[in-house]
Amino acid sequence: MKIIVTKDYAEMSKKAYELIRDVMLAKPNCILGLATGSTPIGLYDNLIAGVKNNEITFKNVKTVNLDEYVNLPRAHKESYFSFMHEKLFNKVDILEENINLPFGAFGDMNKNCDEYNELLGKMRQDIQVLGIGGNGHIGFNEPNTSFKSVTHIVDLTENTRKDNARFFENDVDNVPTQAITMGIQNIMDAKCVIILISGAGKAAAAKAMIEGACDPICPASALQNHKNVIVVIDEAAATLLNKKNLNN
Ligand code: GLP
Repeated sequence: MKIIVTKDYAEMSKKAYELIRDVMLAKPNCILGLATGSTPIGLYDNLIAGVKNNEITFKNVKTVNLDEYVNLPRAHKESYFSFMHEKLFNKVDILEENINLPFGAFGDMNKNCDEYNELLGKMRQDIQVLGIGGNGHIGFNEPNTSFKSVTHIVDLTENTRKDNARFFENDVDNVPTQAITMGIQNIMDAKCVIILISGAGKAAAAKAMIEGACDPICPASALQNHKNVIVVIDEAAATLLNKKNLNN
C-alpha cells in the first residue's frame, strides 16, 4: 500500500483529484469506480472544476458505482443515483448511458445483483475510489463479509444505519434496511484502488485496515492483498498509524 498523508480534507481531495486526473489523461475512455458518502465530495468538486478548466473531460469515461439502497426509488433525493447526479454527473460532461449503479429501486433483487455483476465482468475499473466506514466497511460490505464476495444484497447494520441517519432527517427509521453492493472481490478486481480517509472518527478503521490482521472482521483489510492501492489520508485520520508506514 502506498500511503499519502495530507494536512487536511482539502489537501486529501486535491491529491485524490490529481491521481484520478492522471488516469483520465492517460486513458480518456477509462472506467472509473465511484463511491458515495461525504468523503469523496471534495474530490468530486475538484473533478467538476477540472472539467470547467478544460483540464479533463468525461466525454468517453464510463463509471460504475459501488452500491445502492434497496427499495428506494432512483428519484428519491437520498438514493445513491441522485447523490451521484447531484454531486458530480449533472455538473460534468458525462453521457448518461455511461453511468452505471446497481439497481435497487424495485424488481427481483437477486437478478439485479447478477446483472450488475455481469456488467462488472465486462467493465474492470481502471481506478476504484473508496471511502471507509467507521467499522472498516467498504461499499456496503460489512464486517465478516467474505473476501470472495461479488455483488450481493446486504442487511445494513444498526451502526451503519445510524451513521447514515443524518441524510434521512436524522431518523434511523427512515434509513433503508438493505442495500446492493459490489462485493469485495469486485473491488479487488480493480486495476488500482484509491481509498480516501478523513477525520479522527476514521482513525481506528484506518489503523485496522493498514496495520491490523488481513481478516473479514475489517473488510477494508482485504486491500492489503491488492497490488496497487493508494491510501490518501489526512492527519486527523492518521494519528494511530505507526510512523514507519507513512511514505509521503
Ligand atoms: C456508506 C457508503 C460507503 C462509504 C461510507 C462512509 O456506508 N456505502 O461507500 O465509504 O458510508 O461514508 P462517509 O464518507 O460519509 O464517512
